[in-house]
Amino acid sequence: MVKLKAGIIGAGGIAQYAHIPCYKKLGDVEISAIADVNVEKLEFVARKYGVPKTFARWEDMLDENIDIVSICSPTAFHYSQAIRAMERGKHVLCEKPVCIDTGEAEEIFRVSKRTGMKFMAAMHKRFSGESIALKKIIEAGILGEIYYVKTGWTRRRGMPNPGSWFTHKELSGGGSLMDIGVHAIDLAVYLAGLSNPVSISGSSYSKFRDNASDGGWPPLNTRKGNEYAGSIDVEELAAGFTRFKNGQTLFAEACWAGNLYDRFSLEIMGDRAGAAIFDPGEKKKNSLAIYRSGQPLSDIFPSVPPVDPFMGEIEYFIKCVREDTEPLTKADEIITVIRIIRGIYESSETGYPAKISIG
Ligand SMILES: NC(=O)c1ccc[n+]([C@@H]2O[C@H](COP(=O)([O-])OP(=O)(O)OC[C@H]3O[C@@H](n4cnc5c(N)ncnc54)[C@H](O)[C@@H]3O)[C@@H](O)[C@H]2O)c1
Repeated sequence: MVKLKAGIIGAGGIAQYAHIPCYKKLGDVEISAIADVNVEKLEFVARKYGVPKTFARWEDMLDENIDIVSICSPTAFHYSQAIRAMERGKHVLCEKPVCIDTGEAEEIFRVSKRTGMKFMAAMHKRFSGESIALKKIIEAGILGEIYYVKTGWTRRRGMPNPGSWFTHKELSGGGSLMDIGVHAIDLAVYLAGLSNPVSISGSSYSKFRDNASDGGWPPLNTRKGNEYAGSIDVEELAAGFTRFKNGQTLFAEACWAGNLYDRFSLEIMGDRAGAAIFDPGEKKKNSLAIYRSGQPLSDIFPSVPPVDPFMGEIEYFIKCVREDTEPLTKADEIITVIRIIRGIYESSETGYPAKISIG
């Protein structure tokens, strides 16, 4: 089988943690090129992982004979990089959040359709064992009609690199909600089939803005003093409530730093049964539970396949390219997720629910 040639844009954390090692594990993909504006890092990463070609300008990498591009750069660059890559005939796997606003997302999917190039958002939570098992349960109708979903990702101290692009709105589009809330909301939208939001209320908080040393991951939070003052213009906590056209509702929260415990959670209420995904930190015996109605009430603890979600995501993307099938992340889902995030921000700023006009 002819190997697919991959190019990576952005040689930072997620490229090294997920994209590069996962492509390298596949026998039918070779990483041909990598691009990063930080040339020192670029050369180090290329040497470390044996990537033959390096580019300080990602645009130049797109002149190469490559089939697929992984976009692993700061969020503000995803839109132009994705559009340009697809226009140059490359299939795209793009890190989350796909982009900063819904207009950009709509354009990305239009270009994908027009060029025939695959575009997939790198939503690895969809590929966890719990998500795979729960998706099958929902599709089998076991939950019945889903009407309420509650989800969130909260960290006690987990602001990613205070002072980096993550904490600058111009580059990230927002704080915890854009960074980790996007995973929780995306999973809710995907599993519960949430679509067409009509009203969104939300609040956001930046209590750590002037004390960011205390908000970062350990050991970053051992830095003394207010070293990051003035370098953070995003929230560390956001929460929102969304109503959908069909009457479904969603409560979602995201927190980088706060005085509570670490937790990723998803709870789905259906009229026949409910479902909950638990965080390993909660130390429950099972990571997925189904709560059934009927007399007597009963619970099921489905078996969860032991999988690496990042590997699952990359394998799925490569399969789509090879077999010309539709990527798992659909345009309507990704646009809905970004609309909810933007709605929570808008409502937080105005103090009123964000109203959305839908066609
Ligand atoms: N799926 C996940 O769970 C997950 C986890 C972490 C990060 N991410 C996402 O991955 C993306 C990158 O995050 P990261 O943690 O790797 O960040 P990072 O800061 O570690 O790496 C980003 C890299 O992009 C480079 N860069 C900056 N501007 C560039 C440009 N214009 N062109 C090319 N390269 C450029 C930087 O020099 C840096 O090496 C973000 O969208 C982030 O949200 C996803």
